[in-house]
Amino acid sequence: MTDVASDVPSDDALSNLLHENRRFEPPRDLAAQANVTADEYDTAAADPVAYWERAAERLDWGSRWSEVLQWEPPFAKWFVGGTLNAAYNCVDRHVSAGHGDKVAYHWIGEPEGDTRTLTYADLKDQVCKAAHALTELGVQSGDRVAIYLPMIPETVITMLACARLGAPHTVVFGGFSADALASRILDCQVTTVVTADGGYRRGAASALKPAVDEALTRCPDVRKVLVVRRTGQDVEWTDGRDVWWHDIVDGQSTEHEPQMFDAEHPLYVMYTSGSTGKPKGILHTTGGYLTQCAWTHWMVFDLKPDTDVFWCSADIGWVTGHSYIVYGPLANGATSLLYEGTPDTPHKGRWWEIVQDHNVTVFYTAPTAIRAAMKWGKEIPAKFDLSSLRLLGSVGEPINPEAYIWYREVIGGGRCPVVDTWWQTETGSIMISPLPGVTAGKPGSAMTPLPGIGADIVDDAGESVPNGHGGYLVLTSPWPSMLRTLWGDDERYQETYWSRFPGRYFAGDGAKRDDDGDIWLLGRVDDVMNVSGHRISTTEIESALVSHPKTAEAAVVGATDDTTGQAIVAFVILREAAGDGGPDVVQELRDHVAREIGKIARPRQIMVVPELPKTRSGKIMRRLLRDVAENRDMGDVTTLTDSSVMDQIKTGLAEGGKADED
Ligand code: PRX
Repeated sequence: MTDVASDVPSDDALSNLLHENRRFEPPRDLAAQANVTADEYDTAAADPVAYWERAAERLDWGSRWSEVLQWEPPFAKWFVGGTLNAAYNCVDRHVSAGHGDKVAYHWIGEPEGDTRTLTYADLKDQVCKAAHALTELGVQSGDRVAIYLPMIPETVITMLACARLGAPHTVVFGGFSADALASRILDCQVTTVVTADGGYRRGAASALKPAVDEALTRCPDVRKVLVVRRTGQDVEWTDGRDVWWHDIVDGQSTEHEPQMFDAEHPLYVMYTSGSTGKPKGILHTTGGYLTQCAWTHWMVFDLKPDTDVFWCSADIGWVTGHSYIVYGPLANGATSLLYEGTPDTPHKGRWWEIVQDHNVTVFYTAPTAIRAAMKWGKEIPAKFDLSSLRLLGSVGEPINPEAYIWYREVIGGGRCPVVDTWWQTETGSIMISPLPGVTAGKPGSAMTPLPGIGADIVDDAGESVPNGHGGYLVLTSPWPSMLRTLWGDDERYQETYWSRFPGRYFAGDGAKRDDDGDIWLLGRVDDVMNVSGHRISTTEIESALVSHPKTAEAAVVGATDDTTGQAIVAFVILREAAGDGGPDVVQELRDHVAREIGKIARPRQIMVVPELPKTRSGKIMRRLLRDVAENRDMGDVTTLTDSSVMDQIKTGLAEGGKADED
């Protein structure tokens, strides 16, 4: 059980936020034409179930539901008995409505000039072809397909082809290692993998297929691997298992009859870190997920499908990409931008150049990216015409007021509202956010739950805290795009989210309600770090470290970092046989973690220490380690078995052990 009590944000820790009293009202012209008005909150509050029913009516259904919500806590079923096809809703219906020529994606590859434009008609043809190809490879409704691809149109096409066939996909971020890929494939009992020879990153081709080959040595149930040729690099080939995309997809028919699936048919599984070493397979189903994704995309981003160019800069390998690059925008018939590369290649103004060249109107990114851009300087975005922008969004971690103001002023020219959107892989879509035409924005606050959403901040005993106080964020009523369970593990689902405060969903985040009752998110209260907006568990990295033959014991903490929000700092005791580990031991261990989990999990710092601070009951005192890593005063250490340990660690940290940053 996660011990959250010790980490509840103290009122002291919140006091700096109390001084933030800037407030930005919605721009008048935006408010005058906004998709929703202030009435939305009252309408939803009067009858939340009816509210979501109306949102579901924006989709095309094969047959209508007989009941909107069946709630047997903690298990929910939405739109019971209704049938639909997610891919049909995302592409075919727009083509049938005469919007086939409308651009679904402006895709921009990383290499200079490498672009593709896909209209809704193009997308429909491609999805149909891919659906036929997957069928030919033996994929049937209910089979799981793993997708390990770069940010190319085939990623979206494959997701939709899977959805069309009722085969749940599990997209694995391309930065994850062979091991991480294998464990997801095994947990999800995947039978087919879709990958590419490689992708482009920072000006070079980087391979993907070798990680699949390595992973599959441990996954005997995978029968077929479909491979997109993207970079043209050499690949190892397993005859009978591996199939080139162009060999099997290109010649297929562009017509494919979509089958309707139950609203609760699984749409996808997305793995995310929990507070143990084993990632959790978050299960999303079809009807409720698509309803809330589409609705929130339309309402929170005030989407005008005929004129907006929407850009969510996330990777499709994370939930943000699933909901706001793929399912939400496509269900709404929006025009989106899909970019393969990084913000600083070939130059640090690349994102702003793209905004200028494609007249992006709504831009959605993470605070870590904003802080990186702040570091590079406002002269860089100033070189580009960003006047097409009308709305900005933030997601993934708390946005500090400085970054918010910079985003608003430098990128948004002072005229674009910023929507700070709180949600999680588990919630499937946005839950707490201002509405740009209705709600004022405060730098650093996600403001209020969306219409139809119930949220509260409670103390240890589960009592609602008054304004001006902090506690734990809980969700008080079921919502359509909520996770249904953890893949194959109902018990862990109940235990993780519903046991801390029975009847309420425990989000794992600390939060505060200010004097106006608005919500400020304060970061995780469990052993989960948030590094550059990515969730990584301390335990997962500790397990990777102790799997190295030189490591005896390891403790990992997330230390505050100016750019990445939190940074991974590890304290390691070496095995006696390893001696002092040699001069390169730190690098060796960092590389080991990258190999085990992926580069995103590589610790910023590894400190080789003789001891770890423990309580008398043997529990590692992470709070102290975090204080050391952040160079704070350590406070009371009287519960330590040996308080000199901290001095030794602190001295060692001051003397070195900081590895190069990537
Ligand atoms: O701690 C919260 C933080 O990110 C966590 C969810 O991470 P993940 O499932 O990877 O999804 C990220 C994208 C939705 C949350 O528990 N978080 C997300 N958005 C915000 C945030 N923290 C503060 N403010 C936000 N706007």
